[in-house]
Amino acid sequence: MRNNLMAGATTVAAAAGVNPAPTILVFDSGLGGLTVLEQVRRARPDAAYVYAADDAAFPYGRLAEATLIDRVLAVMDRLVAVHRPDLVVIACNTASTLVLPALRQRFAIPFVGVVPPIKPAAEATRTRRISLLATPGTVARAYTHELIETYAGACDVTLVGAPNLAGFAEAELAGAPVDDARLAAEIAPCFIIGAEGRRTDVVCLACTHYPLLLPRFQALAPWPVLWIDPAPAIARRVTQLLGTVQRSAQDASGSVLGAFTGGAGLTNALRTSLAVRGLTAVDVEAMPLSVQ
Ligand code: DGL
Repeated sequence: MRNNLMAGATTVAAAAGVNPAPTILVFDSGLGGLTVLEQVRRARPDAAYVYAADDAAFPYGRLAEATLIDRVLAVMDRLVAVHRPDLVVIACNTASTLVLPALRQRFAIPFVGVVPPIKPAAEATRTRRISLLATPGTVARAYTHELIETYAGACDVTLVGAPNLAGFAEAELAGAPVDDARLAAEIAPCFIIGAEGRRTDVVCLACTHYPLLLPRFQALAPWPVLWIDPAPAIARRVTQLLGTVQRSAQDASGSVLGAFTGGAGLTNALRTSLAVRGLTAVDVEAMPLSVQ
């Protein structure tokens, strides 16, 4: 399963060739996927974008695995039918580490997932002590444990399932940041000093919401570490699959259509923040978690 998550769409893409004006759908439980959207838009500014947030079911990190699989398939059925994307980015570690095989089985379009950046972390660490900061769902996944065994067998890996951080990131974006003490408490378990004196030097941002808080993490960290955000690698994967931008379209940078399944948190402050990130129009098609 592991290799399929990142590479499963290769054949489809190779057959598709370079698409001059693709529609790319970027999907997350909420606002975290905006960190991935930003990188993908930089790589393909000529594409048309839909940013889909399943905010009615946020946060995914608390959902049972069977519930999450059913939910993502149901929402994706609707999104694919309405928007007809050429490629979908599942900009959510909590979903990607579980649902990608089922999505690829159901749909013919390529899916690119975001999974914990364990491999680059293991390559970058000097102390061989790394931490994985993620949702409780992602740290519990068999897939995450397989990644660690495969790529970080020589390292001490601390898994930190942060219960509230994704919500804190959403609050930050909505202009209502939580205080330093609450944020520091969530990241504190990442910072370990072993009996032999080796301390954590790399932290994987294994939830797409967390880069929204990166400047605050850096300010609150008890010592400097390398924070690894997988979003640039995801953008590279998208261009591998769809081709790079056409020279004539390099300056194009159109707006992004927002598609939300709940809409309850769409305050004026949040809408302003979304507009700054290109989401000038947001549609809400109510899809409560109980309705699938
Ligand atoms: N942004 C999501 C991730 O990358 C999850 C946040 C949540 O819904 O719990 O894991």
